[in-house]
Amino acid sequence: MVASVNRSSLVVIVGAALWALSAVLSGVSAQAPAGRTVWDGVYTEEQAKRGSELYTKACASCHSESLTGLESAPPLTGEQFNGNWSGTTLGELAERIRISMPADMPGSLSRPQLGDLLAHLLKVDGFPAGTTPLDPQAVALAQIRFESVRPAPR
Ligand code: HEC
Repeated sequence: MVASVNRSSLVVIVGAALWALSAVLSGVSAQAPAGRTVWDGVYTEEQAKRGSELYTKACASCHSESLTGLESAPPLTGEQFNGNWSGTTLGELAERIRISMPADMPGSLSRPQLGDLLAHLLKVDGFPAGTTPLDPQAVALAQIRFESVRPAPR
């Protein structure tokens, strides 16, 4: 049976298989969530709750329990905060926190703790929770834009 398949028809079969594979692959990338923002339910309630507990211990003494800031520590919610961060990504915000906060112990936060804190910040700032936890890895956070105004539906 195999012997009856000549060279040129083999080329056609292999070519067709490659074409089908590339069609499938390009279909997959076209469906990747293009331009997710903080409005797309990027964290869970559970994550925000853990973040809130950690925030009370590690951040509230300077930024206040309500995130509105105290003395020299700026607010982490509301107009001024949104103005500072809108147009950037959660990756940039996470990196700022990771390398400089808490100001009395910079560099002490783990990646999962960073994710929990971001979830708490987003929740207090009025962004909706979702069903999938925020992935705290830098590459994933860099995919999520911080937009203070909800983008028009696509
Ligand atoms: C010892 C006081 C102190 C603690 C504790 C602290 N911060 Fe800060 N934070 C500051 C000060 C002061 C600034 C502004 C100056 C600076 O950047 O160092 C700041 C700035 C920030 C900024 C930048 C805000 C902006 O819009 O520019 C973020 C975000 C932040 N802190 C998050 C946190 C988080 C999250 C925690 C808890 C893990 C935390 N901070 C704990 C004092 C503190």
